[in-house]
Amino acid sequence: MSNIVVFGSQWGDEGKGKIVDMLAQDAAAVVRFQGGNNAGHTLVVAGEKCILHLIPSGILHPGKICLIGNGVVLDPEVFLREIDTLAEKGVDVSPARLMVSKKTHVILSYHRKLDSAREGSLSKGSKIGTTGRGIGPCYEDKMHRCGIRACDLADPELLRAKIEAALVEKNILFTQLYGCEAMDPEQVFRELLPFAERLRPYLGDVSTAIQKAVAGGGSVLFEGAQGTHLDIDHGTYPFVTSSTTVSGNAASGSGCSPRLLERIIAIVKAYTTRVGGGPFPTELFDATGEYLQEKGGEFGATTGRKRRCGWLDLVVLRESARLNGPTELAVTKLDVLSGLKELKICVAYEYRGARMDYPPQEQNGMADVLPLYETMPGWDEDLSAVTSWAGLPENARAYLLRLEELSGVPVGLVSVGPDRAQTFLK
Ligand code: GDP
Ligand code: IMO
Ligand code: MG
Repeated sequence: MSNIVVFGSQWGDEGKGKIVDMLAQDAAAVVRFQGGNNAGHTLVVAGEKCILHLIPSGILHPGKICLIGNGVVLDPEVFLREIDTLAEKGVDVSPARLMVSKKTHVILSYHRKLDSAREGSLSKGSKIGTTGRGIGPCYEDKMHRCGIRACDLADPELLRAKIEAALVEKNILFTQLYGCEAMDPEQVFRELLPFAERLRPYLGDVSTAIQKAVAGGGSVLFEGAQGTHLDIDHGTYPFVTSSTTVSGNAASGSGCSPRLLERIIAIVKAYTTRVGGGPFPTELFDATGEYLQEKGGEFGATTGRKRRCGWLDLVVLRESARLNGPTELAVTKLDVLSGLKELKICVAYEYRGARMDYPPQEQNGMADVLPLYETMPGWDEDLSAVTSWAGLPENARAYLLRLEELSGVPVGLVSVGPDRAQTFLK
């Protein structure tokens, strides 16, 4: 197998976890390269569901190496809890197959507190609707060059000094701006120590581990989190996450050369969803929106919030194709569309009197566009047991062919249910 990058092409929750789990079968190693436990990746194997927030979605395949790259932000408590849950199910989560880069930045309690305090202080229309996991504040510290990295966990004196330094500024924000209590550096340090201790055997050099896997003839699967339109630079800013979610970051966020990235798979949900705040041009507020929400089981895998639902947006996908360079699309949740008489695809926007094939770049631009739709006939057949392209109803094939035509990218994989087995190649 070639090295593959899997990325989300919309606003997250496209079904990346499912596809990574399926592809991991043929990989030597699976790597997370950005984001943190804001992600919720759902795997279903033989009817059993497993939601992963930090651990790469290759973990259910015995023997595959799972790596957490430098571009990730890692909450030690969540990571260790996830390890424990998997261990209880009999999954091997030993340091022999699971490694965290020493360069990975660590989320501490003050990041979570700052995330909630900030969101709490925003007015209704300007709330980002973050997951409250401390993701933004941790990336801020990284860029501010006062972050705590996983390697610091092995050096208690350095760790204590860095926590003390970080809290000087944050305590002013807590007490003087957000009206909450100051945090005691010594307490933060003491609470972290047992987690730091347990995490230590997992720390390693992920960059070299990738190089070794490739040198040994194995292939590497890079697992993106979130989606292109949540990207800090290219998403619907400021309603975005705080990391670079596009495929190019697979190299930088894991410590390998971009020359290693061979296949790039865009995960596309057959309709569109979004959790949290921000513009969503094809959002539906009617019975069809409710139908997609209910039939698709569209609840956030991390926060349990209802996902907003709408028609497939090709403007969003065209932009994703330009930014990520996918070699193929993996279309998920096609089964959810069964039973709808007509399906709409947004093919362009009207923006300030002009037709646009790509999203506007001004802040609030996306909130101002009018989606221009094409309508296609739907189908009634249940797709959950379909195992081949030929087995799809004609109208479902036509929908996918139109998606290929409008995006300029071929469909490689089709998913018709949450289970690993409910996937086939086109
Ligand atoms: P991710 O964050 O991109 O990994 O996606 P999530 O796991 O947050 O959300 C995708 C949801 O859709 C999960 O509940 C999956 O089990 C489910 N899912 C994935 N593919 C399919 C599919 O083809 N059909 C249906 N019905 N559900 C799917
Ligand atoms: P996966 O990997 C969907 C959204 C949040 C919020 C915004 C910023 O499962 O696809 P953050 O906590 O990151 O600062 O929140 O980003 N968000 C996601 N939405 N799927 C995700 O991950 C997301 N991760 C963050 O809802 O709008
Ligand atoms: Mg998710």
